Amino acid sequence: MEHQSNWWHEAIFYEIYLRSFQDSNGDGIGDLRGLIDRLDYLQDLGVDALWVCPFYESPHVDFGYDISNHTAVDPRYGTLADFQELVREADRRNLKIIVDIILNHTSDEHPLFIESRRSRNSPKRDWYIWQDPKPDGSPPNNWEGFERSCWTYDEETQQYYYHFHYIQQPDLNWRNPKVIEEMFAVCDFWLNQGVAGLRLDAINYLVEDPELRDNPIVEELPEYLRNIFQFNQLPVHTINHPDNHPLLQQMRQHIKTNHPQDPLLIGEIWVPTTQDIREFYGQEDNELQLPFNFLLSTVPSLSAVAFREKIQDFEENLAGLPTTVVLSNHDFPRSTTRYGTPDNSDRIAKLLATFLLTLRGIPFIYYGEELGMVDTPPDRLDEVQDPRGRLRWPEYKGRDGCRTPMQWNEQTNAGFTEGTPWYKIAPDYLHRNVAVQGQDPDSILNYYKQLIQLRRDRPPLRQGTLTLIGKDEQVLAYTRQTDEEQLLILLNMSPQSQSFSLPEFADRPGQILLSTHPEKDSATVGENLPLMPFEGAIALLQH
Ligand code: GLC
Repeated sequence: MEHQSNWWHEAIFYEIYLRSFQDSNGDGIGDLRGLIDRLDYLQDLGVDALWVCPFYESPHVDFGYDISNHTAVDPRYGTLADFQELVREADRRNLKIIVDIILNHTSDEHPLFIESRRSRNSPKRDWYIWQDPKPDGSPPNNWEGFERSCWTYDEETQQYYYHFHYIQQPDLNWRNPKVIEEMFAVCDFWLNQGVAGLRLDAINYLVEDPELRDNPIVEELPEYLRNIFQFNQLPVHTINHPDNHPLLQQMRQHIKTNHPQDPLLIGEIWVPTTQDIREFYGQEDNELQLPFNFLLSTVPSLSAVAFREKIQDFEENLAGLPTTVVLSNHDFPRSTTRYGTPDNSDRIAKLLATFLLTLRGIPFIYYGEELGMVDTPPDRLDEVQDPRGRLRWPEYKGRDGCRTPMQWNEQTNAGFTEGTPWYKIAPDYLHRNVAVQGQDPDSILNYYKQLIQLRRDRPPLRQGTLTLIGKDEQVLAYTRQTDEEQLLILLNMSPQSQSFSLPEFADRPGQILLSTHPEKDSATVGENLPLMPFEGAIALLQH
């Protein structure tokens, strides 16, 4: 399969949390065949590339992010032949496949770790990070991660091993060249299956401080980490060590050399600033083509002022670089849950859709976002599936809430499975589902389709520059423009109607192309523009 090297510049991505997308065999867990059955839906929605979450052999402590065999498909998800069929069938529909690759750690049941753990003299001992206890028997330092301590003691060999994530996810030692070689071979294996790119999991966690210095303790975590972590230290020695960069350069070079189409490398990085994100592109495009930008998702409330500030920062510090637009994923509450209110959830879902698909950048839709799906967290401890939810219950309920099964129709289990779903279905599935919304021209789903079509039809939405307009407290406004065309995007982030005044456009009336409030379609935009509560509108300005 041929992939052009820059196909992704104007693409829309869709994240498939496979476990929750479509079950085909009644075991209650989504699988590859289920996904193949739904490719027509995704083609019809209009997206271009699918990021498929892990489906490799795994004990499933972290639902596949703990791999015990990198090149085998877990029988719960299907077979390698199913995966190959997925790639072929997706290609027939012009959909690219991106696989999720976990290079930072393995499962503790991976043969490499089993061997490493066997003895201090194991030839694989230095493939993981082993350290002696302090003289009093305590862990080598204060590092905390998914669990409390990042260190787990091994009685047999009387050393601690390091794991940023769960105890069952020991970190590989990326300072060992043999590890590098082995993990590059994993990338090659999947790229040789015809995938168009890799989503690199936790890619700024590969190496830690070699001196194992303690992390500094803070009263409160900075904004960018609050979505995903609960510890009270700054992970300066565990995450984002500068030595990650030469490794990523080596990885890009290896992949480019062995796969001349220069497959897309998307990196999961949680970093505080746009300057940090910038670093991951390297010099003259020699690291990742697309480091994730999660900074929008850290804005705590629906606020025109706060979002404007972020966009301003992106425009200043990521100018000229391709960047992602992400409001939701499988690790933190959905945007509808973060910003919506029960009364206005649907209106806010459409407003957020307008935002997601009109900003400068490459949008990532999280499955079900196109229906306005909301989180359904566990009510009781015995419902919790994500171990993180059990560790800190009840103040933190884990990540199950944003991973509820996809809502296909009003039948049993929302059409997700004929068996018992691995986690409960959201109670709103009777009206919030693909079948019902497909019939309703004003549904969130149809609004997404219209927006995606508009993005195809109007080059400024894919290629245009972005200019922020005004400083309104309630309305976020910006233009997207190419030499030929200028679009104005207005997002009323408040529950009140607003009369937005646009003196700079007084002599250039425009026309609304699409609004979250369909009665406004085709309305004329003049100096004063009335906006309905939570309205999002896209207008074409006259030259
Ligand atoms: C990434 C994944 C997350 C997983 C973690 C450990 O952050 O997105 O789901 O738990 O890595 O692999």
